[in-house]
Amino acid sequence: MVEVKFENVMKKYDDGTIAVNNLNLTVHDGEFLVLVGPSGCGKSTSLRMLAGLEDISDGQITIDGNVVNNLAPGARDVGMVFQGYALYPHMTVSENLSFGLRMAKGEARLPNEEIKERIIDAANLLGLTEQLDKKPKELSGGQRQRVALGRALVRRPKVLLMDEPLSNLDADLRNQMRTEIRRLHDELGTTTVYVTHDQIEAMTLADRIAIMDNGELQQHAPPLTAYNEPANEFVKGFLCKHIDEIVDTANSILDSR
Ligand SMILES: Nc1ncnc2c1ncn2[C@@H]1O[C@H](COP(=O)(O)OP(=O)(O)O)[C@@H](O)[C@H]1O
Ligand SMILES: [Mg+2]
Repeated sequence: MVEVKFENVMKKYDDGTIAVNNLNLTVHDGEFLVLVGPSGCGKSTSLRMLAGLEDISDGQITIDGNVVNNLAPGARDVGMVFQGYALYPHMTVSENLSFGLRMAKGEARLPNEEIKERIIDAANLLGLTEQLDKKPKELSGGQRQRVALGRALVRRPKVLLMDEPLSNLDADLRNQMRTEIRRLHDELGTTTVYVTHDQIEAMTLADRIAIMDNGELQQHAPPLTAYNEPANEFVKGFLCKHIDEIVDTANSILDSR
């Protein structure tokens, strides 16, 4: 049971910007929650506070029942995938995947055999088995993104965090990776928080969406519930804005099945 809880969480940056205001949100065990909203609404800040990359100004965050406010990122057992997924260019796919595990110290260091097994498992899961000895420059964009995802997965994190991980990919690849990410989630069941400004991505990926505006949570609900019963005018406008695109994408995903 890995539940994540934001309780009255606030983030005030040094320059006085209140990026997140009184956030109360529970991510349930095994849930795929998408944090969505326009640029600058506080999505990345929320995720970064959860990951330990940003201090929490007020309130508390718990993972699996433990308050993590003062825990270092490495001690939180979260895996993170960013938009700018820099792979190490001089390392093979296999070395990129295992890097974090190989660098672990002390009790956290897994035996080499276990590391090897995890790399093989992850490669299987992500369709990268044939690519393990290649360097990043020999890979397609989609394969690189899969390596970035694999790097987070081999740690078998309690919580998987993704911040606009598909933004650098073209539309076709984005659709394909979106399907892939959802399939992986269905297979692994890892509690996941996924950040995007893209309504389509949110609607097609999420068990539940949490819609933010201006640092404040507006509504959290399953995608269709939020769409059919928006809590306020902002949510209504935000979710309807790209309805044609949503329908197109949904159709193309259905067609490709
Ligand atoms: N390091 C920082 N210092 C000051 N303000 C910041 C910093 N990072 C983000 N902000 C501000 O906080 C708000 C939320 O930013 P962010 O969480 O990055 O939004 P999102 O990810 O939803 O686009 C924005 O107004 C942004 O300009
Ligand atoms: Mg952001």
